[in-house]
Formats: sequence, C-alpha cells, structure tokens
Amino acid sequence: MTAIATDIEKAAGVLRAGGLLALPTETVYGLGANAEDPDAVARIFQVKGRPPSHPLIVHIGAAEQLDDWVEEVPQAARLLAEHFWPGPLTLVLRRGHRVPLEATGGLETVAVRVPDHPVALALLSAFGGGVTAPSANRFGSVSPTTAAHVRAELGDAVDFVLDGGPCQVGVESTIVDVTGDMPAILRPGGVTREDLEAALGHPVAVPSTSGVRVPGQHPSHYAPRARVVLVEPGKVVAEAELAQDAGHQVGVFLPSSLVGAEVKAHAVVALPGSLDAYAHGLYGFLRELDERGCDLIVACLPAEEGLGLAIGNRLRRAAGPRTSG
Ligand code: TXA
Ligand code: MG
Repeated sequence: MTAIATDIEKAAGVLRAGGLLALPTETVYGLGANAEDPDAVARIFQVKGRPPSHPLIVHIGAAEQLDDWVEEVPQAARLLAEHFWPGPLTLVLRRGHRVPLEATGGLETVAVRVPDHPVALALLSAFGGGVTAPSANRFGSVSPTTAAHVRAELGDAVDFVLDGGPCQVGVESTIVDVTGDMPAILRPGGVTREDLEAALGHPVAVPSTSGVRVPGQHPSHYAPRARVVLVEPGKVVAEAELAQDAGHQVGVFLPSSLVGAEVKAHAVVALPGSLDAYAHGLYGFLRELDERGCDLIVACLPAEEGLGLAIGNRLRRAAGPRTSG
C-alpha cells in the first residue's frame, strides 16, 4: 500500500472508533467525525470551542447519496448537486433521520456537500458514512489550508491529521439554502454567484454587504490575531504609513495594481493578480502576517465579482468587532 492509502485506512479507522480527524478538502481542512455518532460530533464542538447551536456540514462521498441524508431533495437542489458536486458548494436541506440534532445545532435543516479532493473522496468511500466537519480551526480564527496549519492550531486535540497537501481553493464552500421558494446564498465561497446563476438560469440573492470601514454588523470571524483595517484601494499605502508612524507593527495586503509601490510597513504581502490565486493564498497571508509579529493589517476589498465576493466577505469578517473569544 502507498503511504497515502495507509493513511486513508487509518483515518477511516479513527472515524469508526468515534475519534476526531483533520481531513483535507479542496476549500480548507476540516475537523471531522462520524456524522452518525453524537458523542464524536459533540467532541468537535469541544475541541473547536464552538457554541453547540452552531450547525456543521455533513460531507458525503457522492451526489447520489444525498437522498440518504435529507428529508427531500427539491428540484433546484438536485440541479445544483449534479452541476457542482464534487465541489465547493454546500446545500442546506431538510434534515433526514440519519443526521443527529447534535450535528445541526438542533435545526431541522442540514448542510451537505461532496468535497472535490481525491483524498477526502477516498476517505469517504473507505469509511462509507457521512463525516461532519467544520473548518479545523479554533472558533473565530483563520481556517487552515495546510496540514501544518492544523497541527499548529489543534496539535494533539485531534486523533489524526490526514495530510492531503495545500487546499486548492483556499476559502470555504458557498452555502446555498434550498429549503425556500428561491435558492439563497447564506455564505459566499468557492462556487461563484455567477456560476450558480448560470446553472439555475436566474438571479440568486446574496447576503447584504456594505461600506468599506465596517461598523457593528459583522461579528469577527476568520480573524487573525492582528487587527484588520479595510480602506479604499487608493489609501492602502498612506494608511499603512500613518499606522506605522503611530507605533504599530503594520502588515500590508498590497493590491497587485500597486505592486512595486514604496510602502512604509513592518511586512508587506504582494497580492496575486488573479482572484483564484488570492483566495488560494488568503488565509496563509493572514497567518504569515501574524507570525511576522504584525498587530495591524491594512487591506482593501477586491471587486465583488467571482471569488472576490467570498474574499471580501472573509476580509470584512476579519475586520469586524472582536466580540467573543
Ligand atoms: O468549505 C467548507 O465549507 C469547510 C470544509 C471543511 O468543508 N467547512 C466549513 O465549515 O467551512 P464551518 O463549520 O466552518 O462552516 C459551516 C457553516 C457555518 O457558518 C454554519 O452556520 C453553516 O455552515 N450551516 C451549517 N448547517 C447549517 C444549516 N442547517 N442552516 C444554515 N447554515 C448552516
Ligand atoms: Mg469555519
């Protein structure tokens, strides 16, 4: 057996034994447990420090298994599953009997997706059941996109880290609620709004976003230790300099349009030109600036098209008020 095949067998054993596992997906690493084992699911919440009312995603091995996990599959859900699975799309549907309330935070709906990662799919196939998995980070912090991130953040709290390399997409899945009359995006992510609309043939509602400097409405989540400040693209350099002069250790997300600009700061990340590459690197960049000792990160929002919608959503949340630990 190859090393990865051995690891996949071991990981399936951990799930069968009621353990906790870090697993790779195409979006971010997940903290997984057997979806049908309420005690194992409860341990996810303990390790993450996540409130038990905050529902999890059930990962399954193929679109054909969807009916096993939900009460009914509306036509729009069927279409989206066929079109985007395996892939970074999560569908919220009415909960089936197999899903314990522990996994849904007590809700009568359940979030389901088929991840597009060969190691995750091999694991799901070897295991045979569903795997509930939130992102494998402590509650409120930045999601891990490498196995090293997981080890640094969760260490011995997980029974096994299944290393599938760096995550391709880099931001979490798009969550679409298909329980109502019209599909609605609950969280922008790896599948773009444009792609959803093209598949459905009509516009899809997204959560409202507003303003650049964000007042109270976005509680902090996906947040590095450093405070994140969002400014207009033309003000990134001046804002960084002002804060650095005021005594901060400033980290800068320098937009690709400004590459080569002189910036007075502690650390600079030159952002890639493509939104795909930006999403892929986003959480790693935030971690890097933390590691380099920055206490303030100055960034601007990308255009709200394609993956820019998800990147902007994560940046806004990282910049939100720190209400909980
Ligand atoms: O890409 C992803 O989605 C990653 C990988 C590991 O699959 N997972 C992930 O899980 O981001 P987590 O737990 O960090 O975020 C799941 C989101 C939460 O914001 C939760 O509120 C929402 O999914 N969610 C889960 N079940 C739901 C439900 N029944 N109704 C509405 N939202 C739900
Ligand atoms: Mg998360």
